[in-house]
Formats: sequence, structure tokens, C-alpha cells
Amino acid sequence: MDNFLDMVKSRRSVRTFDGNGVKAEDVDTLKAFAENITNPYGIDIIYDFLEAKKNNLSSPVISGEKFYITAKVKAGKYSEEAYGYSFEALLIKAHEIGLGTVWIGGTMPREKFEEAAKVSEGEIMPCVSPIGTVADKMSIKEGLMRKGVKADKRFKFEELFFDGSFENAVDENKAREMGLADAFEAVRLAPSAVNKQPWRIVVQGNCAHFYEKKDKGFDNGVYDLQKVDIGIAMYHFEQQLISEGRKGQFEVSDPGIKMPADVEYITTYKFD
Ligand SMILES: Cc1cc2nc3c(=O)[nH]c(=O)nc-3n(C[C@H](O)[C@H](O)[C@H](O)COP(=O)(O)O)c2cc1C
Repeated sequence: MDNFLDMVKSRRSVRTFDGNGVKAEDVDTLKAFAENITNPYGIDIIYDFLEAKKNNLSSPVISGEKFYITAKVKAGKYSEEAYGYSFEALLIKAHEIGLGTVWIGGTMPREKFEEAAKVSEGEIMPCVSPIGTVADKMSIKEGLMRKGVKADKRFKFEELFFDGSFENAVDENKAREMGLADAFEAVRLAPSAVNKQPWRIVVQGNCAHFYEKKDKGFDNGVYDLQKVDIGIAMYHFEQQLISEGRKGQFEVSDPGIKMPADVEYITTYKFD
């Protein structure tokens, strides 16, 4: 992958497919890639590649899809962040080989998907994604859905990123001075549930502390969908730095920075 940010900029959620299905070689490529995905928590994610018709799978917001990827994980601490990180790696790979995807965590008949993916006691399957070739034209319902969640809008840099404390916002110019503009942009353009963009980052020297700004209605007591969003953001941030030839690692080590209401510390990326 050359510049990760270019990949992120050309991605969008795809809900209208051309009805032609997915070539067997593309499924094989994704299966092989999935086997080697790791995440900072060392938590296993189990993927399945399921034909829609054979398994009676559909979603009211999707049309023309022939294939779904399901992903499940053992419930536990950090399982959602690990899940977001790893499943996003697979969905970005699908985008790289020319396939459309969309994270689906709510708008699906969950029981049918959980049965098809054989989700057992103690496991969770927060999301699934269709895969396929993007249709030439978006369906009307896809257009409406994008409008409804303002899918093409994102918060400004200074609403998401901070230097030293939550009181010291970082705008795009400052981010450039800090050498983090593209990594931040890769986070800003990430997908998130209902486009709520719950990621917040506070930088302290060579540490980027990741926080979750919680909205109501995303934590069902078993898992928190916005922690999946944070996992996705972690993947985007790290991959952009890697594509710039830099490196680092995630470590849970709360710096104790004073947090606004409804904010939770998640993890820290220490980079060169
Ligand atoms: C964890 C997660 C769950 C999502 N669940 C749904 C869903 O149930 N239905 C849907 O149509 N889109 C879903 N989305 C897609 C978001 O609506 C989409 O990412 C957001 O609106 C931004 O649009 P974009 O991905 O095209 O940039 C989900 C995204 C994430 C990350």
C-alpha cells in the first residue's frame, strides 16, 4: 500500500452493488489476507464469507449484494477495539482490490446473521459487511441514508484533536507543524456508526492518547459500538504513520489528563 491516506480518501460506505457477485479469486484473496490480520490486543477475530441467497441474508439498506463478510469475537475487555481494528484492515483490503463494503451494525435482521455465522454463547458479532462491485448509480434509499447521517461531513480538526490537554485544540496548520496532519486526516475520514465520529486524540510529545466521546444509544450492555469506531480510528492512524515510514506501538497507559464529560480513555500510540 503506497499512501494509506489516498486509500482512505477514495473509500466510502457502499450500499448499492451491481448484482454480479464477487469473483472466487477475490474471495480467496480476502480469506488469505484475513488469516494474517493481527491487532494490538492479540484478540482473535473470526470471519466468515457467506453467500447472501444461500444463507437468507439481506439488509434493508443494501441492494444488489451477493456476498457478506461476518466477523465475531469472544466478548471481553478490549474486544470491541480489537474488532474495529482488525475488521477495518479486512474492509480496507477489499477496497484496495476494488470491492465496495459498508460496516453494518444496526440495519440488519441480526438473528439471521448470527445464525448463519454460528455465533455462540460468549461471542459477539457487532457488525457485518456486504462485499461486491459498486453499482454505477446509488439507490434512492442509499442517497437518503447518506443525507440522513450527513455521511459526507466530518468534524473539524480542532473539534477532534488536542495538544497536551482537551483545552488546547489542534487545527490543521498546527497538525502539519506537529507532523501529524495526514494521520489525523486518516482518522477524521474513517467510517463510524451513524457518523458520530466519537474519536478524540490528545497528543503529548510522541504519544497520541485515544479517547472515546460517548453518545447515547451505542452501548447495549454487552458491547459498545463506539469502541468499535475507536478500533477503526486506531487502525487508520497507525497505518498512515506506517505508510510514512514511521512506526510505533499501542499501549494502554492512561496519562490521567482531565477529561470532558462522557469521555473515556482507551489507549495510547507511542510513535517515533
Ligand atoms: C461500527 C459501524 C456501524 C455501522 N452501522 C451501519 C448500519 O447499521 N447501517 C448503515 O447503513 N451504515 C452503517 N455504518 C456506516 C456509517 O453510517 C458510515 O460509515 C458513516 O455514515 C460515514 O459514511 P462513509 O462511510 O461513507 O464515509 C456503520 C459504520 C460503523 C463504523
